[in-house]
Order: sequence, then structure tokens, then C-alpha cells
Amino acid sequence: MESLIQLNNIEKSYVMGEGERSVTTQVLHGVSLNINQGEFVAIVGQSGSGKSTLMHILGFLDTATRGAYQFDNRDVTNYDEDELADIRSRKVGFVFQAFNLLPRTTALDNVRLPLVYQGVGMGEQKERATEALIRVGLENRLTHKPNELSGGQQQRVAIARALITNPLLILADEPTGNLDSKSADEIIELFRKLNGEGRTIVLVTHSLEVAQIAKRIITIKDGQILSDHINESWKS
Ligand SMILES: Nc1ncnc2c1ncn2[C@@H]1O[C@H](COP(=O)(O)OP(=O)(O)O)[C@@H](O)[C@H]1O
Ligand SMILES: [Mg+2]
Repeated sequence: MESLIQLNNIEKSYVMGEGERSVTTQVLHGVSLNINQGEFVAIVGQSGSGKSTLMHILGFLDTATRGAYQFDNRDVTNYDEDELADIRSRKVGFVFQAFNLLPRTTALDNVRLPLVYQGVGMGEQKERATEALIRVGLENRLTHKPNELSGGQQQRVAIARALITNPLLILADEPTGNLDSKSADEIIELFRKLNGEGRTIVLVTHSLEVAQIAKRIITIKDGQILSDHINESWKS
């Protein structure tokens, strides 16, 4: 299988304050990790273990303090802000706990937004956004605004928006954290379906139960990988 992500000894420290009074906190302590295209990986760990920090590095929202990162056979370790913004917008789709949709904006307009930034023509934007919303089961909600949708439906819109650029990687940070259990199950099913269609998915969660939906489970504690194994109970 084709390699997508290779992290080698990633460290991340945050510096708070300035000068002599500054305090450095190391959050990731040498994380090494390979992920191939088509994988479905859950990264699970307690609150504060460094999951979101790791996800931000994987998704080019932040950079590591030390270590090397290869993505899609390119060394991205020393990418500058512009290069990071470019690869992030073209190759990664994000799904967050809080949906992060624009209020007072229809599902269709939320989903087509990444294409606006890419300079895609209006006709194609609408066509592709409609297609993405159909794929997540929202063909009857195209003109609904976030406050006219349930939590589960809002998360579907966010997933459609993450898919619209046809990214190499979908990153989801606690995607079911704001949902009731029925909606959470539906979102989990949707991720399974997307992986079945060949999407590479990395899902971050504090919940061992949610992590069970992935084919591979990586456990993180205090900024280090504790275990990395194939999920025996995983069913296609
Ligand atoms: N921007 C930041 N500045 C300083 N410390 C941070 C920052 N982001 C996260 N941290 C710290 O890093 C640790 C890991 O945070 P995070 O990656 O958000 O964990 P998780 O997602 O597993 O709950 C926490 O102790 C948190 O306080
Ligand atoms: Mg987090």
C-alpha cells in the first residue's frame, strides 16, 4: 500500500510567556507513526494527552518543534506558512467537534466554500457541493441553515465540506463529541462508508468506544504512543 504519512520522532513544545519568565511545556515526546493511503485509524487517549496537538501537526495547522514529517512522499518538515496553507487546503479535510459551520449560511454555501477559495467557477461549485451533500444523505437539506438542522445533520454538512476538495486525508477531532448517541452512530457509519470508498481517515477521540469503529487503534498517553494495533473486533 502507498504511504501517506510518515512521522519520525515528532516533538512539540509550547512556550508560554516571554523572556526569562517564559515556561516551556513539552506536549509530544517523540511520536513516530506511518499511515498508508486507505487506512482508517483512531488515535485514542485521555483529555490532555496530546491528541489535538498531534492532529494539528498532521493537518498542517501547526508545525512540530523537532522531528520529521513526510506527507504524500514529500518532506514537509520545513514548510513555511504559505506552503502549509496551500497543502492544507488542497490535501486535507477537517471535521471538528463543534462543526464550525458559518451561521446564517445554507448547507450548500457552507460546503462549496473551500472551492470558492480555490477559484472554481460558480456552476461547478454548486454541482460539486450538491453531489457532496447527496453523498452524506442531505439531498433534502441543501438550502437549510445550521440552526435549521439537527446536530447530526450539521456534522454531515461539515463532512461534506471536508470531502469537497477530494482530499487525500480526512482528519476528525472528536467528531461525535457534541452528538446524542443515535446521531453519533450515524456519523460513525458515515465514516465507515467513506473509508469503504477508499478515503483515508484519522479520527481522534478520548472514547474507547468510538475508537472501535476504526481498523487500527493507536493509544496515546502523555504525548507518547503506548500501543498501535489492528482492531480485532473491526467488521467491514
Ligand atoms: N497552544 C497551546 N499552548 C500551550 N499549551 C497547550 C496549547 N495547546 C495545547 N496545550 C497543552 O498541551 C496538552 C495537550 O493538549 P491537547 O493536544 O489539546 O490534548 P487532547 O486533544 O488530547 O485533549 C495539554 O496539557 C494542553 O494544555
Ligand atoms: Mg483535543
